[in-house]
Amino acid sequence: MENPFKFGTIVDGKYFTDRTKELQYVQQILQSENHLVLISPRRFGKSSLVNKALEQTERKHIVINMQSVTSVQNFASRLMSALFRLYPVEKMKHLMTHFRVVPTISTNPMNGSVDVAFNPTMNTDVILEDAMELLQKVSTEKNRLIVVLDEFQEIEGIKNFDKQLRAIMQTQKHINYVFLGSQESMMESIFEKKKSPFYHFGQLMRLAKIPYEDFKLYISERLNPELAEDILAFTNCHPYYTQQIASQVWDLVNYEHETIDIIPKAIERLVTLHDLDFERLWLNFNKSDRRVLQELSQSNGTTPFADKTIPTSTTFSVLKKLMKQGYVIKTDQYEIEDPFFKRWVAEKG
Ligand SMILES: Nc1ncnc2c1ncn2[C@@H]1O[C@H](COP(=O)(O)OP(=O)(O)OP(=O)(O)O)[C@@H](O)[C@H]1O
Ligand SMILES: [Mg+2]
Repeated sequence: MENPFKFGTIVDGKYFTDRTKELQYVQQILQSENHLVLISPRRFGKSSLVNKALEQTERKHIVINMQSVTSVQNFASRLMSALFRLYPVEKMKHLMTHFRVVPTISTNPMNGSVDVAFNPTMNTDVILEDAMELLQKVSTEKNRLIVVLDEFQEIEGIKNFDKQLRAIMQTQKHINYVFLGSQESMMESIFEKKKSPFYHFGQLMRLAKIPYEDFKLYISERLNPELAEDILAFTNCHPYYTQQIASQVWDLVNYEHETIDIIPKAIERLVTLHDLDFERLWLNFNKSDRRVLQELSQSNGTTPFADKTIPTSTTFSVLKKLMKQGYVIKTDQYEIEDPFFKRWVAEKG
C-alpha cells in the first residue's frame, strides 16, 4: 500500500484537491492577453496550482525559478536553455539570427539538455533584449507562450534588473507571464507600489489555504472523518503541514497499527524530528520576538492579543518582521506558520 499523502513537491493528480475556482481564474487570465501575479505564503500550493493550469492548457510554457538566477546573463541563459527544450535545435538556430552577441551553446551528452553561456563582460541590455526577443518569435496570437517566473521577488537582488525586464516585457505581445512569489510584502511592493516598474503589470491573485470542508473530505477518504477533523484542528488547513501530518498518521495506522492517541503521537514524532532546528531558530530570536511567538502559540483560532486592548506598536513591528521572515502568516488572524513549531513554542512556555 502506498501512502496517499504527499508533501514537499508539486502535487498533481490524486494528491491535488479543490482549487476549482482558482484554476478557473488562472485559466481565464491565461486565455487573455494579461499577466498573472500569484501571491501566498510559502507552501500554500502556488506551484501546484499553476502546474495544473499549465497541464490543462496544453500550451508551450517555460518555468524559471528566480531564486537560482545569479545575474542578468544567467537569466538569459536559463531562458534560452528552456526554449531549447521546447523547440528543435535547428529551429532555434534559425530564430537566433538576430543575435548581436552570440552565446556558446553546448549539448550535455548525459541528458541531452542544451547549455547556453554568454560572455559575462558583454552588455547585459543587449543580451537580455536578444534572449527576450526569442520568446516573442516563438509565440503567436493563436499559440501564446506562457512564461512562469517563480519566487519573482528575488529580482530585487539584481540591480536594475526589474527596470530592464519591464522595459522589454511591456513591448511584447502574445506572451502570458505568470509571476509567483511567497514573500508577500516584497511582491506587493513590486506590483502595487506606484513607483515600481512592475506597478499593476498583472492581475493580482492571492492564494488562500484549502477550504476546511474540502480538505476534510480529502483526508476522510484516505483515513476517516474523525482523524481528518483532528488533523485540520492542528494544522488549521495549511496545505503542506496538513499533508505532512496526514502522511505520518497514515503510517502510524497502516504500518504500526496504532489505534489510540494517533494524532498526538504523530505530532510528537514530527516535533521531535525538528527539535534541533526549532532550538536553533529560537536562539536566534530576540526577547520581543519570543514574547510575541509565545503569545501566538497560545492562541487557538481566535485573534491573539484579544485579552489586551490593542497590540502595541512594538508587537506590530515584531509581527511585521516575523511575517517578512515567514515565521508568522496572516490569514484571518496572525498565526505561527508552522504548527509544529507552534506546538514546540507552546510546550516551552
Ligand atoms: N491543491 C492541493 N491539494 C492538496 N495538497 C496541496 C495542494 N496544493 C499544495 N498542497 C500541499 O502543499 C505542498 C506545497 O505545495 P506547492 O509546492 O505547490 O506550494 P508553493 O506555494 O509553490 O510552495 P513554495 O512557497 O515552497 O514555492 C504540496 O507538496 C502539498 O503537500
Ligand atoms: Mg513553489
